[in-house]
Amino acid sequence: MNRKYRKTVIAGNWKMNKTPTETKAFMTEFKTIMPRGRWCDVALCVPAVCIPAAVRTMRETRIGIGAENCNANASGAYTGEIAANMLLDAGCKYVILGHSERRAMGETDADVNAKVLAALNAGLTPIMCCGESLEQRQSGITTEWITMQIKLGLAGVPEDKIRKVIIAYEPIWAIGTGKTATAEQAAEVCTFIRTTVRHLYGARIARSITIQYGGSMKPANAAELLAQPDIDGGLIGGAALKPDQFVDI
Ligand code: PGA
Repeated sequence: MNRKYRKTVIAGNWKMNKTPTETKAFMTEFKTIMPRGRWCDVALCVPAVCIPAAVRTMRETRIGIGAENCNANASGAYTGEIAANMLLDAGCKYVILGHSERRAMGETDADVNAKVLAALNAGLTPIMCCGESLEQRQSGITTEWITMQIKLGLAGVPEDKIRKVIIAYEPIWAIGTGKTATAEQAAEVCTFIRTTVRHLYGARIARSITIQYGGSMKPANAAELLAQPDIDGGLIGGAALKPDQFVDI
């Protein structure tokens, strides 16, 4: 990380875990054991039905609450979907977009791009995910794949809004598998992502963008990952489900 130029953001991704009742219990405990220091921004992205309980319990703390997806449209006939401005009104600050688990359900780069634009227009901070599969890594096309995801995902994002976007690098082979990318592997791709942003938006903006690593990040490996100059935070799944583990990170 480089705290002189950009924010460090540690975000939890609960995925499809916890009920609103369990959310309240987690947040209540987390509040009491949360470190007082302000060295990073902290976010918890939770299932949509848990947002009200999370926002209510964390009111008057500096923890930001986020969602795990949104629809690209502002309103209309999209049964079961949730618009970005609804999330904002419910008290969300962040929204995870383009997570590999959603891409596996059919979400394309064009969908992710439309959602990133919708989130920015609503005033949310998108956490846009990218990452290669094991097969892609072994075929030597990691950088090509990441370039494509970043370029397509950020298409049409204007210069005055790009600083708000957080990019999360999550190698698919490291998610929920216990197999973390080595700090070197993670750092290499995060540096590459910053270079890609530099080509698109220039050096000043590239320097100010927060890039997270995600994929089996836990208390035991967080320090080494976060010590890499281009890794400015983490997107944490499993280890964000237990207040003490999340606090340790
Ligand atoms: P994990 O999940 O920390 O459980 O590997 C990370 C993520 O999917 O965001």
